[in-house]
Amino acid sequence: MEPTDAAALIERAREALDAAYVPYSEYRVGAAVLTADSEVFTGCNVENANYSNALHAEEVAVGSAVRAGHRSIAAVAVTSGERDGVTPCGMCRQTLAEFGDDDVPVYCDTGDGEYNEYTLGELIPDTITPGTLGIDPDDA
Ligand code: THU
Ligand code: ZN
Repeated sequence: MEPTDAAALIERAREALDAAYVPYSEYRVGAAVLTADSEVFTGCNVENANYSNALHAEEVAVGSAVRAGHRSIAAVAVTSGERDGVTPCGMCRQTLAEFGDDDVPVYCDTGDGEYNEYTLGELIPDTITPGTLGIDPDDA
């Protein structure tokens, strides 16, 4: 998949919606991350009875990618059951910034083949990254 193939990546994110565990908010979120080596990992939100411990769809997708050995993100798609153009929350933006550069596109589904497109740098400018700390994670 090409990094610019937004519609296909959004479709992968939508495939994760059915698995969302959302008995409390009833707000389904699906995410897909395209890795630098062109694999796609998806995630859905997973809520908890304490109302606080929700795993966010983007976190689950990033976790799956990292578990499989992929540490570089080339594109992200996010969707919700409402197709309301939901964007990654602040926490997820930071999680994505650990593995994606400022120019990584983030496609936010608004339905009917439409989407809002941002870059990760727009969503979370000037944030702390491994580079800020002078750390190469692959050496750690
Ligand atoms: N949610 C995500 O999965 N990703 C985000 O970045 C925004 C919020 C989920 C968490 C919770 O299950 C539901 O959406 C309502 O906040
Ligand atoms: Zn989030």
